[in-house]
Amino acid sequence: MLFDLSKVTAHQTYNLLIGLVAPRPIAWITSVDLAGKLNAAPFSAYNYVGVDPPIIAVGVGNRPGPGVVGKDTAQNIRNTREFVINVVTEALAEAMVTTAIDFPPGVNELDIAGLKTAPSAVVSVPRIAAAPASLECREIATIEIGNSRVILGQVVAIHVNDEFIDPAGPYVRAEELHAIGRMNGLGGYVRTRDAFFHIPRTTYAEWLRANP
Ligand SMILES: Cc1cc2nc3c(=O)[nH]c(=O)nc-3n(C[C@H](O)[C@H](O)[C@H](O)COP(=O)(O)O)c2cc1C
Repeated sequence: MLFDLSKVTAHQTYNLLIGLVAPRPIAWITSVDLAGKLNAAPFSAYNYVGVDPPIIAVGVGNRPGPGVVGKDTAQNIRNTREFVINVVTEALAEAMVTTAIDFPPGVNELDIAGLKTAPSAVVSVPRIAAAPASLECREIATIEIGNSRVILGQVVAIHVNDEFIDPAGPYVRAEELHAIGRMNGLGGYVRTRDAFFHIPRTTYAEWLRANP
């Protein structure tokens, strides 16, 4: 089936994209408003897009309805230029979904989900204490395109619980983290527990030896 995107609605396009660009990592973002009130929400339009400097990108849609109203997270990041991305594990999945409820601005979703915060090292926005890892970020730019805001952030500090770090690299013991990913938008997620398989990369010289 071919979908000509000039002929389908934005919602249908969304349904197709989230079913195909999957699994997606989930950025569980903590941010604060100008009055200092904490906010948390998950975003799966998310990835790292640069290493030197370390850059992540997050896509935040505007809220539906009359006028252009950015989600609280996008507004907070624009106003304070700081945020924290917390890693979501199986154990935190239910709490993460609770923080996606469209509470009015000023409501602390973490209180409702029963989650505590811990101070960050560089930015003033706290991280989620129960998350096994968090990325402290500063906003580089927010690019408004149609009804979306693409937030580019520079990662300025990374917390990882000691048990998940192999100091040799350092590497993240990703197989033990049990992070989850988002699939389609119908409440579909994937586990990463017991799901890894490995294919070592080879060099051209090694490939030539194996394929004379
Ligand atoms: C797993 C998950 C991933 C989500 N990803 C996105 C996303 O990438 N972009 C987006 O705009 N909303 C996304 N949402 C919806 C927001 O989390 C939701 O609109 C939330 O209420 C925004 O909160 P805020 O207004 O406090 O920022 C996602 C929801 C869930 C449960």
